[in-house]
Amino acid sequence: MRILAIESSADETGVAVVEKSENEQSAQVISNVISSSLSIHAKTGGIIPENAAREQVRLMIPTLIGGLLQSESINLKNDISKNYQTANEILSDRIDAIAVTCGPGLIGSLLVGVETAKTLSYVFKKPIIPVNHLLAHLYANFIKTSNFGKISFPLIGLIVSGGHTDLLYAPDHGKFEWLGGTRDDAAGEAFDKTGRLLGISYPAGPQIEMRAAMVKENDINFKSPLLHSQDLDFSFSGLKTEVLRFVQKNEVVTEETKNKICAALQKAVNDVLVAKTLKAAYEKKVSTIIVGGGVSANRALKNQFENELKKNNKKFTVHFPEPEFSTDNGAAIGAYALFNYHPSPVLKITANPNLYFSKK
Ligand code: KG4
Ligand code: ZN
Repeated sequence: MRILAIESSADETGVAVVEKSENEQSAQVISNVISSSLSIHAKTGGIIPENAAREQVRLMIPTLIGGLLQSESINLKNDISKNYQTANEILSDRIDAIAVTCGPGLIGSLLVGVETAKTLSYVFKKPIIPVNHLLAHLYANFIKTSNFGKISFPLIGLIVSGGHTDLLYAPDHGKFEWLGGTRDDAAGEAFDKTGRLLGISYPAGPQIEMRAAMVKENDINFKSPLLHSQDLDFSFSGLKTEVLRFVQKNEVVTEETKNKICAALQKAVNDVLVAKTLKAAYEKKVSTIIVGGGVSANRALKNQFENELKKNNKKFTVHFPEPEFSTDNGAAIGAYALFNYHPSPVLKITANPNLYFSKK
């Protein structure tokens, strides 16, 4: 089963071709092309939805052609019509089904991917699988990489993206119970909003991580919100206020101080992410944890999980996707569809910016 997967929930246009690995335990990526409009959003200090949607319109077809041709190791030709012809043939002869992100995300961006996928499904007579892109973030862990380790259920999934922070319990593929989530800002938002205060361009997560890594000793400390609360909830909006107060109090914020603020913020976010995820694992008596979403690209978060697990005598195993599959991409959408193959009638599929999962 070869799946063509399309992701267009926000500022990345992702197209991938995937199939199950030989032992059926993971998703093999045949091609994965991501066209980003990040540079445009860096200039505006964040995503302006109309700009993102227009970029999706501009990038969707070239990315689709790139993903299809790459899946057969065919180089793009100068003659555009030849590329279209080859892509048509690959889609017709080599692709078994189409998966697409239906939400959550920005309506304009989502519409471009969803309507493209629906049209291709109808014209080429291929089954279509609608995908919740948050669940796909977790399935990025099922993508085969050089250090892929078998993932066993039941498990706890931690989703940490730019718009969401959620803890889920999964007894098996496709079965999810929502355990808790953020009451206000998402973890990625805490990075991005702090970045804006410090003059760090969007998305701030990667740069905050780099700056934090330069700090050896830190006299700045931010309180980790809800660290000791009894529930499995998060709250990150207070952190940006703490950073704002700190910046307002200090007239001159040197680069060294900025780095320290970044390190303190990263620690405050990561401490509560690790603590609440382990709490969920204990409560649900599971030993597998998977983490996904843009913030899972943060290697300090991965290290902190691994150090905590060492302290627990390796009672738990934790899986992180490779950074290239942590942020929005088509391969994760395809991986989800391979393990949750539920095609839907074409006309029943709609873009849903508020798509979520049912809460307990
Ligand atoms: O999952 P994603 O690509 O898009 C959404 O679904 O929202 O996540 C984007 C978020 C941004 O907030 C970005 O700052 C954050 O992921 N991010 C990171 C890192 N790389 C991306 N946050 C912390 N450390 C990183 N290395
Ligand atoms: Zn995402």
